[in-house]
Amino acid sequence: MNLASSRWVITGASGGIGQALVEELCRRGARVLVAGRQADTLYALAERHPQRVRVVVADLRTPAGRQAVVDAARDIGHVDGLVNAAGVNHFGLFDGMDDAAIEQMVALNLTATLQLTHAMLPLLRERPHAMVVFLGSIFGSIGYPGQAVYSATKFALRGFAEALRRELADGPVRVLYAAPRSTRTAMNADAMVQMNRQLQVAMDPPEAVARRIADALRDGRKEIYLGSPEKFFVRLNGLLPRLVDRALRKQLPVIQRFARQPSEGTASP
Ligand SMILES: NC(=O)c1ccc[n+]([C@@H]2O[C@H](COP(=O)([O-])OP(=O)(O)OC[C@H]3O[C@@H](n4cnc5c(N)ncnc54)[C@H](OP(=O)(O)O)[C@@H]3O)[C@@H](O)[C@H]2O)c1
Repeated sequence: MNLASSRWVITGASGGIGQALVEELCRRGARVLVAGRQADTLYALAERHPQRVRVVVADLRTPAGRQAVVDAARDIGHVDGLVNAAGVNHFGLFDGMDDAAIEQMVALNLTATLQLTHAMLPLLRERPHAMVVFLGSIFGSIGYPGQAVYSATKFALRGFAEALRRELADGPVRVLYAAPRSTRTAMNADAMVQMNRQLQVAMDPPEAVARRIADALRDGRKEIYLGSPEKFFVRLNGLLPRLVDRALRKQLPVIQRFARQPSEGTASP
């Protein structure tokens, strides 16, 4: 897709990856409708790019919030793509999660993402070429201790993206599933950052993730996985999961130690 003069709706635009993607798409000449709940952060983006950025403040877990995004998208005229980047995570052991935390993570990462996509598809279908993007994760291919519910939502999102891509294959809407590895944003609590350091797990700056996603949009890619060792482990997990079981079994005491620390990652009020 030619990104110059294309128009996008980006959810999670007040977050680390979302903001970086807004900056990257604006830099490449696109216009963006930014969605999220933190009005200040969203309006700051609009102030930086007054000709390119429009704001819609919305809680995507509510029908009214999703409708506000669709209405705002209709107001700006045509839309070439929807980037579903809104998401929450709480690094921690499954034992320590309560019903509300499980429900909130599934409600945003999965249910609201599917519902917004459903509501936006008629608008996207009006274009000769359009795209829906899902921000997945390496944990959407490798079930990781301390990330059980998050992994569940991202595995489901990956399956949904694959099915939707196949379902829409004879029409104008393309689907991209983008799976970053650990990225330096507010989503990752201190405990996660410290654990990654100890286990020598690399973390990407959000700007690098945004560049890769923008390249994937331009090139019409179907799936991208960020990070070479992570890509290798995704394949290994598919082919020889017992090897990955064994490797993670060795890391388990370290993961448990950090996962028991109080979480400060992105929480959904
Ligand atoms: N950071 C990583 O290590 C990593 C790795 C792989 C994949 N990802 C995925 O990449 C995406 C972006 O992550 P990030 O690192 O940029 O996270 P982040 O900085 O924590 O941002 C999360 C975004 O989700 C939005 N959000 C949360 N609850 C919402 C709600 N109820 N309604 C509307 N928006 C809501 C937040 O906006 P408001 O607070 O303004 O509502 C914020 O913009 C997520 O899907 C995440 O799962 C992240």
